[in-house]
Amino acid sequence: MAHDQKKSVLTEQQVAQPTSSKNTLTINDNRTGKQYEIPIENDTIRAMDLRQIKVKDDDFGMMTYDPAFMNTASCKSKITFIDGDKGILRYRGYPIEQLAEKGNYLETAYLIINGELPTKSQFEDWTDNIMKHTLIHENIKKFMDGFHYDAHPMGMLVSTVGALSTFYTDAKNIKDPATRRLQIYRLVGKMPTLAAFAFRHSVGRPYVYPDNDLSYAGNFLNMLWKMTEVKYKVNPVLERALDVLFILHADHEQNCSANAMRSVGSSHVDPYSATAAASAALYGPLHGGANAEVLYMLDEIGSKANIPAFIKTVKEGKGKLMGFGHRIYKNYDPRAKIIKQLADEVFEVTGRNPKLDIALELERIALEDEYFVKRKLYPNVDFYSGLIYQAMGFPVEMFPVLFAIGRTSGWVAQWEELLMDAEQKIARPRQVYLGHGTRDYIMMGKR
Ligand code: SDX
Repeated sequence: MAHDQKKSVLTEQQVAQPTSSKNTLTINDNRTGKQYEIPIENDTIRAMDLRQIKVKDDDFGMMTYDPAFMNTASCKSKITFIDGDKGILRYRGYPIEQLAEKGNYLETAYLIINGELPTKSQFEDWTDNIMKHTLIHENIKKFMDGFHYDAHPMGMLVSTVGALSTFYTDAKNIKDPATRRLQIYRLVGKMPTLAAFAFRHSVGRPYVYPDNDLSYAGNFLNMLWKMTEVKYKVNPVLERALDVLFILHADHEQNCSANAMRSVGSSHVDPYSATAAASAALYGPLHGGANAEVLYMLDEIGSKANIPAFIKTVKEGKGKLMGFGHRIYKNYDPRAKIIKQLADEVFEVTGRNPKLDIALELERIALEDEYFVKRKLYPNVDFYSGLIYQAMGFPVEMFPVLFAIGRTSGWVAQWEELLMDAEQKIARPRQVYLGHGTRDYIMMGKR
């Protein structure tokens, strides 16, 4: 049974109605008979307030135990709001559906990082500053060339974005707002270039330099697909689709990679090294690697006729339905809905991805099957995005790289919010030690 179903489900009547104005939690420690009043703030208690709960005075004091932080808030944030039960996602209060329909990625990046939608002149300055930082140091090509021909582009991205810290040594000055802003311009501007260079290396084609006459997404397509033509001709439908996909992937509150960005950033390392850590987290198949795993899964299923047998193996615990389920969403991921609509526009241009029929049938069956319904497993952002990327000509290995480009604005926003938060310190969780007590060394011959 899923974690959130182990607890008893309270009915409306049973839900305790506030009986007093005291905003506290009263804890009775039955080991000692002592009672503690713990303040409640934002419907949470401070874990440090539990340390006073002891049996003996010299005890360390009580902690919470929360593997994978299933129920732990690590920070206060104003960037992204998610209501997993209702399938709501908002960046700085703006619904993702409106930003995807009416906005563009650089505007969304401005919103996420600065907190407000930009005016026309603010947007022009922002775009100009980012687009003039799309070039990378020529030396980066040398170690990009050092990778094997079949090196995974995500491994190349993690390495090269970390290497940027050696070119911009001013980035260590994280306390200076102007320096932080310059690194943010560089990171948002250069991620598409690093991604495109990694792709071109993997297909043995020459690197294509940025063309700053083009849009953010258009320039990325240029650096990926330009061949011998003088000027790359951007397909507006694919340009728009990619821009919307970047918007949908821009941030997602305290996901695994944002947590990595914050945790590593809390040591006050430069933002390039922190972004390399976040990218590494995103590389994992349970996080950003999931959209590639969806395609592998659809290939394994092969046809609609094989779906029932595949579903059976998943229900027997022999594997996961990749692209389904989410730690927060216990409803349809709002991003998956938008991507599903986007797929039709892309397939008009690229031709329909034959795997879409298997995906649609898989979704239909899973949404009716008790195993998935009981566990509140719905399609997430990764279920349909891979089908679009593949139809656009991206190899599967590039999918998490595309995710990383969009998510960079979220990572840097989370990083800067962490640095500005006076309550934050270097992240250093505790543990519950269950290992050996003291024991003396035994000489090799006596073991
Ligand atoms: C992203 O955090 C974010 O915001 C991430 C992200 C973002 O924008 O940054 O949204 C992007 O990473 C989306 C998720 C992409 N990953 C996948 O699609 C991989 C497949 N999904 C699962 O691995 C899983 O759903 C997770 C990792 C996404 C969430 O796992 P949880 O919250 O830890 O849930 P769980 O593992 O505790 O599962 C609860 C139950 C378990 O069954 P029981 O042990 O209770 O019997 O549901 C089952 C799980 O086995 N389950 C699945 C399943 N996901 C969970 N069973 C089959 N297929 C699945 N996909």
